[in-house]
Amino acid sequence: MPESTPAPEASIDPQPSGPFRIGDRAQLTGPKGKMHTVTLLPGKELHTHNGVLAHDALIGLPDGSVVQNSAGHDYLALRPLLNDFVMSMPRGAAIIYPKDAAQIVAQADIFPGAVVVEAGVGSGALSLWLLRAIGPAGRLHSFERRAEFADVAQANISTFFGHAPDTWSVTVGDLVESLPDAVAPGSVDRVVLDMLAPWDCIEAVADALKPGGVVLCYVATVTQLSRVAEFIRGTGLFTNPISNETMVRGWHVEGLAVRPDHRMIAHTGFLITARRLAPGAVLPEVKRRASKTSYGDQDVELWTPGAVGDRTISDKNLRKRVRDAQKAAKWATNEADSAGNTGADASGAID
Ligand SMILES: C[S@@+](CC[C@H](N)C(=O)[O-])C[C@H]1O[C@@H](n2cnc3c(N)ncnc32)[C@H](O)[C@@H]1O
Repeated sequence: MPESTPAPEASIDPQPSGPFRIGDRAQLTGPKGKMHTVTLLPGKELHTHNGVLAHDALIGLPDGSVVQNSAGHDYLALRPLLNDFVMSMPRGAAIIYPKDAAQIVAQADIFPGAVVVEAGVGSGALSLWLLRAIGPAGRLHSFERRAEFADVAQANISTFFGHAPDTWSVTVGDLVESLPDAVAPGSVDRVVLDMLAPWDCIEAVADALKPGGVVLCYVATVTQLSRVAEFIRGTGLFTNPISNETMVRGWHVEGLAVRPDHRMIAHTGFLITARRLAPGAVLPEVKRRASKTSYGDQDVELWTPGAVGDRTISDKNLRKRVRDAQKAAKWATNEADSAGNTGADASGAID
């Protein structure tokens, strides 16, 4: 049986700001760009082979300060952004990267006050972005089959917010079995699925979603993409699914050396979104082929090879090419006839 973890009484703090306080996390960038993240405590020290840095040297200083350690090395201290936090937090399962989390928030239309369902919770990376986006008036119901992963996610979320937010609950169990007990039918605004077989959950998700609500699936492979998209379409309960992936290419920008980075994280996953139809609604058939009335003569003119950047050929030149081609064909066929071999290879280069 799925078991639900009651969330402790607390609310989401805004991102801390002002001078560093006891208990704040600080991301320290030292010699050669090496990073360390520490929780600031009186009397504590960061020991590296480059020397010792006392936490007390930072407490009370503004975010973005530079301090020296015992060996005179400079350390830049910044409060980690959510971006930084998710990339360095402990992982049970693979996480959703910030580039995809940002698109999920946008494409699934996660809004302040939304009731959101998420499965599986994995390491809690996406949960952090979702909790931020729904704000203090929203509600995030997360589901995770594996208790150990839910533990990792709970720890990560408590570390980031300083406590488990009261806008969040995590249920250990399979989404299909647990969802009907956790939410009333037709009461959920948005559902995000990050799992191997999201198609298994689509019908349960359709029951939970409000009419017009959004389901978004995040999958790694084209076979999953195709299967889940066709499954969603086949239910007749959703709009036609929309699919895409996001590539973010970093740039090296230094003086006149301005170019794309040599390396990038290219493929991570595909996003598929669809919206829940009203009960009993049938999706109107969408015309697949553009009708004649959907483009005019001026559009056809715009698509000429010259207009789209292809080299054009003058009429005179074209007539010469035709003559050359016909001459070559005649020569080739005469040669073949005289050789008595109609299958001969006729090659004739034309300038
Ligand atoms: C890739 S991880 C999720 C990572 C997470 N989105 C993050 O950003 O940290 C996929 C998780 O889905 C869980 N899972 C798979 N199928 C599930 C289901 N039907 N119900 C609940 N959890 C499921 C797996 O146990 C796994 O932890």
